[in-house]
Amino acid sequence: MAQILDGLKVSKDIKSEIKLEVDKILAQELRAPHLAAILVGENGASKAYVNSKVKDCKEVGFESTLIRLSDTVSESELLDEIKLLNENPQIDGFIVQLPLPKGIDQELIINAIDPKKDVDGFHPENFGRMALEMEAFLPATPYGIMTLLERYNVSTKGKNCVVIGRSRIVGRPMSILLSSKGDPGDATVTLVHSHTQNIEEYTRKADLIVVALGAPKYLKKDMVKEGVVIIDVGITRVEDTGERGFHLEGDVDYEGCKEKASWITPVPGGVGPMTRAMLMKNTLLAYKRKI
Ligand code: GUN
Repeated sequence: MAQILDGLKVSKDIKSEIKLEVDKILAQELRAPHLAAILVGENGASKAYVNSKVKDCKEVGFESTLIRLSDTVSESELLDEIKLLNENPQIDGFIVQLPLPKGIDQELIINAIDPKKDVDGFHPENFGRMALEMEAFLPATPYGIMTLLERYNVSTKGKNCVVIGRSRIVGRPMSILLSSKGDPGDATVTLVHSHTQNIEEYTRKADLIVVALGAPKYLKKDMVKEGVVIIDVGITRVEDTGERGFHLEGDVDYEGCKEKASWITPVPGGVGPMTRAMLMKNTLLAYKRKI
């Protein structure tokens, strides 16, 4: 029976550590770190994510600014907002919540963010620096997973790791971090995706699997070996008849897989809260680099 990688608990520890640092900053009569977020349109999940980020800022003692734009905003208006944040010395870091409405070129928008304020780690400069094992803002979800493994002393050195999904914000950077020098890291990594044939042939040999697919209950117990470590990044909203009208489902068939795994992340309470905590961590790093 698997042990739980408790992302909720570790995220609380990390937020307390950040709060302590902020208290020290404030005791020196310096200003608090300040995170801004741009939210375009009315996507329900995006609104919920951004609201949580604002709440996290409050919890750790950061200032936050939420900029809400209508989904009819033009690309150039959005670029103007980014320019203002880039140039505002009171703002240490900011994020543009994705996805953006159709008609807005995501690449162009991300490239306009000052890499020194890119606390999501999405700018090509940060991505490139990460891939070259230079100091960089790491994207929050992969950074959160690496931190969770580190805090539970789950070693990946020399292990066979399979990452399912090659998204630019989770799968691809995850594969790079797991193969980078260090532990967690130093793994032999296979990145499988929608064109991979017989994915289960890879997952059955894996010592650690990161599933970042967005397909509820995709990973089944017959696809994994005994003792595997399973990291579930999925958080799909599945409609139900409850009060909220939906619940969140991971990419892992948790009930089945937990019988075989040595370690497993729950959904909710696994990767999600870690992602949120690491955004706070990156904002603190952005602040500290400047002072
Ligand atoms: N959309 C889904 N995840 C993220 C994230 O980590 N950052 C931003 N900006 N948008 C997202």
